[in-house]
Amino acid sequence: MAIIQFPKDMKWGVATASYQIEGAVKEGGRGPSIWDTFSKTPGKVVNGDNGDVACDSYHRYEEDIAIMKELGIDYYRFSVAWPRIFPNGTGEVNQEGLDFYHRFVDTLLENGIEPMCTLYHWDLPQALQDKGGWDNRETIDAFVNYAEVMFKEFNGKIKHWITFNEPWCSSYLSNYIGAHAPGYTDLQLAMNVAHHILVAHGKAVVKFRELDVDGQIGYAPNVEWNEPYSNKQEDIDACKRAGAWFIEWFFDPVFKGSYPQFMVDWFKEKGAEPKIEDGDMEIISQPIDFLGINYYTGSVGRYAEGSGLFDHERVDTGYQKTDIGWNIYPEGFYKVLRYITDNYGQVPIYITENGSCYNDEPVDGKVNDEGRINYLQRHLVALHRSMEAGVNIKGYLTWSLLDNFEWAEGYTMRFGIVHVNYRTLERTKKESYYWYKQTVHNKFFEV
Ligand code: NOJ
Repeated sequence: MAIIQFPKDMKWGVATASYQIEGAVKEGGRGPSIWDTFSKTPGKVVNGDNGDVACDSYHRYEEDIAIMKELGIDYYRFSVAWPRIFPNGTGEVNQEGLDFYHRFVDTLLENGIEPMCTLYHWDLPQALQDKGGWDNRETIDAFVNYAEVMFKEFNGKIKHWITFNEPWCSSYLSNYIGAHAPGYTDLQLAMNVAHHILVAHGKAVVKFRELDVDGQIGYAPNVEWNEPYSNKQEDIDACKRAGAWFIEWFFDPVFKGSYPQFMVDWFKEKGAEPKIEDGDMEIISQPIDFLGINYYTGSVGRYAEGSGLFDHERVDTGYQKTDIGWNIYPEGFYKVLRYITDNYGQVPIYITENGSCYNDEPVDGKVNDEGRINYLQRHLVALHRSMEAGVNIKGYLTWSLLDNFEWAEGYTMRFGIVHVNYRTLERTKKESYYWYKQTVHNKFFEV
């Protein structure tokens, strides 16, 4: 038996995102986003699901906040739907959108919960996509304008800001792999999108400093751990490339002001290269106050000529998997946090997402999601180990408060510590909710 004890000042929380929980897509003056369009395109989302209703949190936020209050968390990470603030991406501000988020943030604060706000969790206004989306540099200016409105409006209320959630997903997954909105399969396009998102991030940070906003700002890239199958150099190199697509590609520009040369060279062979304008790298590399890290999984991989973009293939070495099929790999959590610290210094880190998919349903009013408790325990043990090793962890937020719209998987994959019945919209706290509540309260647990 061991006791895993966390520091008294560490922050605990839960996370969600606008399109995944809000619903009410035609209310409050909201304009359409690329996810409305994508989810309504046949064949893109499992079962043809969409976010029209989702968890209906737009109407039920008071109930959700009561659930969070009982949970005893410090922080709630949510995202703002850009098309609620600017229905067309630019132009007139939609006051009803601002009013909604004011009511919502005020209710959080009244309940002693600090808002952590993500500005971009993938719901780009469709009007901007119609003009080229993130491929068009005008979208950068539109984003900075939207960010400025939010900073001014919520200065003093929101103290933690995240510019972009998982830029790898909104660039490569969405524009090269094509699995997410807008669903293209063009490597150069995806690279342009990635670059413009990074520039938009940097410009938003500049604006934040200019306005002297009372608070902190960072971004939240997703990382995985890629473990070489053997100690052959070709396996090590293949894993390095696969991992660098997530890490170096999105961290080096921010922390070092350049793209990783070995990846630039590799991509050139594939016919794509970053289109950098004068001053871009200086803007991207503005110092940030904290780094958000989203970690779910990792894998063992090896060199395989011609396999994927990186001559890399995954090998199934028998890890247990969650219901979405992802390896349970807590060791990778420890390793990736060490790797980030070794390469980018002791930047303050919030784990902005970590969690698991288990599709347990209520039985006699109880959801026994043992798998999720086990996942949380094992990842928190790994996190604790990383802290002992010098990783500068400030807080941990689990994904997610609620079961919700899991993008291309629709409603088939559940990540919540609270179950949502999508027919009645009833919320049922799972066993993991009670486990997390106890851990948040005690700041330790036994394993
Ligand atoms: C990361 C994303 O930020 C979130 O939107 C998603 O639901 C979870 N991962 C689970 O896939």
